[in-house]
Amino acid sequence: MRLGVNIDHIATVRQARRTFEPSPVFGALIAQQAGADQITLHLREDRRHIQDRDLELIKELVNIPVNLEMAPTEEMKRIALRVKPDRVTLVPERREEITTEGGLDVAGNKEYLKEYIKVLKEGGIEVSLFIDPERSQVEASAEVCADAVELHTGTYANLWNAHSFDKAKEELERLRSAGRLARDLGLKVYAGHGLTYQNVKEILELRDIIEELNIGHSIIANAVIFGLERAVKEMLEIIKGR
Ligand code: PXP
Repeated sequence: MRLGVNIDHIATVRQARRTFEPSPVFGALIAQQAGADQITLHLREDRRHIQDRDLELIKELVNIPVNLEMAPTEEMKRIALRVKPDRVTLVPERREEITTEGGLDVAGNKEYLKEYIKVLKEGGIEVSLFIDPERSQVEASAEVCADAVELHTGTYANLWNAHSFDKAKEELERLRSAGRLARDLGLKVYAGHGLTYQNVKEILELRDIIEELNIGHSIIANAVIFGLERAVKEMLEIIKGR
């Protein structure tokens, strides 16, 4: 299974002060150095974390694949065709949401998405659709000629985190059957959202179906906590010379 590291929340911290640090570009390079298979980033319409310049620099500087998550809007299409990430993952987006809440309704927007995907593919970009693990959404994803689907693991993760392990197991089975169907329809299968160092372990049971996981929040959360001791010590060295 490959790992795509989502670096959005490095930019979230930077944007809290509208300053230059921490830099998601640096973060992308460090993730690459650590062995990440891909950098994933979400350019949101409201630019709450990643900025256009971050995307441009990351595409220029990293030499592992770049996966751009974006809403299927005209503005984002123009940006994608200019910057040419290796992959675009189409996600639904609502300004009020804290994070991407549900999967894209592919079944309800087939005509629009088919044309949208065609243009991106003609631009040499792989197109993946972030969907809930539902038969109708998987079938619609094949119909609109996507290259891949990313199965939304948020429901599984929430159930697991609430220690509803029986229900989490049921959701894991939904992910398994949606993944199998997608693969049978010729789609590549990825997954992500809400995965942590704890709840990711059961997802590994699906490694013969899911090729890649995209994980952000939990990795950045761990980086902040485990990097804190060193950061405090370095500031103390400067201030107290010790
Ligand atoms: N995959 C998609 C499509 C996403 O929108 C996100 C969040 O931006 C992720 C994966 C990563 O989710 P998390 O930050 O919860 O690991």
